[in-house]
Amino acid sequence: MALKEQIAQRTTTYKTVLNPEELIITDGALQALYIALASICSPGDIVAVESPCVFSVLEILRVQQLRVVEVPVDIRQGFDVDLLKKASQKMNIKAVIVTPNFHNPTGSLLSDEQKQYLHALAIEQGIPLIENDIYGDLHFSGHRPINIKSLDESGLVLTCSSYSKSLAPGIRLGWLSAGKFFKKAEQIKYALGSTVSPIYQETITKLISSTSYDRHVRLFRNQLASQYYHTQNLINRFFPESTVMSKPTGGSNLWVQMDRKLDMQLFYKLCEETGIRFTPGYTFSFSKAYDQFFRLVFSDKYSAARENALKIAGDTAAKLIGI
Ligand SMILES: Cc1ncc(COP(=O)(O)O)c(C=O)c1O
Repeated sequence: MALKEQIAQRTTTYKTVLNPEELIITDGALQALYIALASICSPGDIVAVESPCVFSVLEILRVQQLRVVEVPVDIRQGFDVDLLKKASQKMNIKAVIVTPNFHNPTGSLLSDEQKQYLHALAIEQGIPLIENDIYGDLHFSGHRPINIKSLDESGLVLTCSSYSKSLAPGIRLGWLSAGKFFKKAEQIKYALGSTVSPIYQETITKLISSTSYDRHVRLFRNQLASQYYHTQNLINRFFPESTVMSKPTGGSNLWVQMDRKLDMQLFYKLCEETGIRFTPGYTFSFSKAYDQFFRLVFSDKYSAARENALKIAGDTAAKLIGI
């Protein structure tokens, strides 16, 4: 069976059967997001985006000359739909970008009720919803969370994903389920002139049409869960008590808030010298809201050297804030 049919019919992991006729195969999730935005918006339009938001997505917004309203993501509850509602009553929001399942960087998961509420709001206000489901397969336990696409019959929800988080970053293959924007999205894809390597297409088709992908994801999810708990323990042990962490239930990202007294620039510089690099919080927003935060990715297995570097980072933070 062809790649689009295979992706569309993955009913074991996607609660909905996607329509293969509205699928576009892309060079990763970022390209899918680029195409989704360009299908809906023109320069100067306002887009509501989750905050904090991964830098590469902010770059797409900047390159497409879109104006941004940042909607906070709570580290436990996820995207604040009430605040989006308030913003949408005050300004003409052209699209919303949201990662309901294991948002990067907080790892938060939007409940089914909040997904329904967000979907209902999008329908009521006629705002297209661009859903990034790149981490959806990576739940630590229980069932795969639903995506908002599975609630939608209007065509206003555009869902994108890829295999770069669940299989390997080097596999440049993603997809966009473009809803009623399919025709425009397809034109933009052609205009970009890029093609997805037939080798990747064949590899993914083989993996997802057999049990290989499911088997791999099951093992990987367990590995991610245990690495997350290990990371949490290391930070609890080695970092100052004032450190606050998000509590992801899936994905590979941890969002860490440091003491407000800590000089973050100096902290990053000293950490780099000992071989550990964090993604600074300021890269996740156009504002200065996250200067005291950093993201820690726990998808790689720990070595003794990395554990030690994390211990030194904790000691460094403690020293810099004077404890
Ligand atoms: C939320 C989010 N979207 C998209 C991407 C990029 O996906 P891809 O490598 O498939 O383009 C990333 C990677 O960090 C991400 O975290």
